[in-house]
Amino acid sequence: MKMLGVKTLLLVLILSVMLASMVTEAASGNKVKRVKPRKPVKPVQELLTCKSRRSKCFMKRIKCPVECPKVKPKNPKDKACFLDCYSPKCEAVCKSRKPNCNGPGAACYDPRFIGGDGIVFYFHGKSNEHFTLISDSDLQINARFIGLRPEGRTRDYTWIQALGLKFGYHNFTLEATKAEKWDDNVDHLKLTHDGTELYIPEGDSSEWSSAKGDIQVERTSTTNSLTITIHDLAEISVNVIPVSEGDSKIHNYQIPSNDSFAHLEVQFRFFGLSSNVEGILGRTYRPDFENPAKPGVAMPVIGGDDKYKASSLLATDCALCVFSPDGTKDEHDSLMMEYGMLDCKGGGNGITCKK
Ligand SMILES: *[C@@H]1O[C@H](CO)[C@@H](O)[C@H](O)[C@H]1NC(C)=O
Ligand SMILES: *[C@@H]1O[C@H](CO)[C@@H](O)[C@H](O)[C@H]1NC(C)=O
Repeated sequence: MKMLGVKTLLLVLILSVMLASMVTEAASGNKVKRVKPRKPVKPVQELLTCKSRRSKCFMKRIKCPVECPKVKPKNPKDKACFLDCYSPKCEAVCKSRKPNCNGPGAACYDPRFIGGDGIVFYFHGKSNEHFTLISDSDLQINARFIGLRPEGRTRDYTWIQALGLKFGYHNFTLEATKAEKWDDNVDHLKLTHDGTELYIPEGDSSEWSSAKGDIQVERTSTTNSLTITIHDLAEISVNVIPVSEGDSKIHNYQIPSNDSFAHLEVQFRFFGLSSNVEGILGRTYRPDFENPAKPGVAMPVIGGDDKYKASSLLATDCALCVFSPDGTKDEHDSLMMEYGMLDCKGGGNGITCKK
């Protein structure tokens, strides 16, 4: 009984205080300061800047868009904020952290490329050989092709199994390791830097960078996906995937049951290539390049085996290779193209890209 009495007293007290405050509010008219309803917390939009003098954005502070406020979002499926320091536009944009096989700079499937000019083309090469994708004075990127040739076919079906990168006097390699039976949860990446194998713990956002900081590798999912950033030169996003049973059936690849043909899907972004850049993909970034693959052709295959064949993953000996780390790069010669600014639509063989 006593407890109830105290409670009742409290209730009366509270009610009278509330009544009093209402009266005060009414008396003071609209001078009462009301606490605004709380707004949903807006994510902090990160600020980015470019430290290269060549950039239009040099030392400017650019805010990430609201749609992608962070450079490294927690959720790997969220789009990331990206500032291309070498685009003539100084503007942060949203992009997927995984390679987009239908975007410019892509090298996917049995390799199908999308050039810097936005034109889709196939380059078959040969299995167990190396070809140069990019050769510029300060950057070389070779690919190792794997594949097979079902009986009665006139050419190899090929996929990109490894990339060899050279920048300055450094080497970096990335390989899809062989998998008899594919399992998404098992990592199939093998990486080396200057000949030393790297171990980057599995897990989203797990990172490694070189002592000098000129190259950085970051996983973009727990296993089998990463992004490599070579300072001032390139950003390369990669997935390791098997040749799917569906694709094998559609194209009649005749993939053996004891090899999943683990290979790479890649999307490249380049910063400041020179106008003399070479390579199967590189030349499509030249301002004067006339692509032999015409848009609208269903499956334009381009040749160039003889011009771009290299003797190993890190060799720079292809006939048209121009890599020369000793030479000084003519800064005025570097392209300020709107790389990555091409907007591509469609899929399969019906991709069209526009500025
Ligand atoms: C890079 O690779 C080339 C070719 O295999 C080799 O000659 C050179 O010594 C390597 N450089 C480093 C720093 O590992
Ligand atoms: C797969 O089987 C073929 C024979 O059927 C054999 O020649 C080949 O070495 C095997 N590959 C692997 C990865 O075990």
